[in-house]
Amino acid sequence: MRRCFYVLLLAVAVVFVSCSNTPQPTENENTTAMNTTMQDLLTRRSIRQYTDEMPPMEVIEEICKAGTYAPTGMNRQAPIIIAVTNREVRDKLSRLNAAVFGKDAGDMDPFYGAPVVLVVLADSSAAATWKEDGSLVMGNLLNAAHAKGLGSCWIHRAKEEFESEEGKAILAELGITGNYVGIGNCILGYPAGDYPEPAPRKENYVYWIK
Ligand SMILES: Cc1cc2nc3c(=O)[nH]c(=O)nc-3n(C[C@H](O)[C@H](O)[C@H](O)COP(=O)(O)O)c2cc1C
Repeated sequence: MRRCFYVLLLAVAVVFVSCSNTPQPTENENTTAMNTTMQDLLTRRSIRQYTDEMPPMEVIEEICKAGTYAPTGMNRQAPIIIAVTNREVRDKLSRLNAAVFGKDAGDMDPFYGAPVVLVVLADSSAAATWKEDGSLVMGNLLNAAHAKGLGSCWIHRAKEEFESEEGKAILAELGITGNYVGIGNCILGYPAGDYPEPAPRKENYVYWIK
């Protein structure tokens, strides 16, 4: 009986020590992390010139993960991300995107030479908030890319890309069924050239009611 008591006491002590050893962020570390987040939010810019270098897959995966952690209405998780690192498919999407401009598009690359495209689509029948959900995923991707040292830019016209027969074929090949509508293309890569300055913020952006 006495031995049992000591074994129990030892078990409690082990649990206590292991819990108290779990590293908790100090107040300073918390503040630093918060400052870094604020810095990232304020310094992210749309990048429109890229090197050809392909970012490491682990980094792209981490950025996608950040996208999947965006809030969604009623947690319906209506959006999906198609992460394209394949050059042929990336070029096809660029062509479909440029085609929206019509014949004036010429040889333009609306993806500005970026080697990676993360396309966000959302299932319009999965949640009333599908557009908002998809836009927040886009926001997370753009900010996560910046936090991981990559350039990014929201490129519009994903809707038209995936309304085309070629776009639909890409979804079908991936086995994606449902009413998926393109929200945006988040292009990724290493910035080339000067880092852009932020545009001045308009006056009266924020109205206070105190
Ligand atoms: C919904 C949306 C669509 C956009 N579409 C494009 C686009 O097609 N091509 C482009 O170069 N930039 C596009 N942008 C990027 C904006 O032009 C850019 O965010 C804006 O000029 C502010 O610059 P910043 O992102 O550096 O702060 C888009 C941004 C948003 C939010």
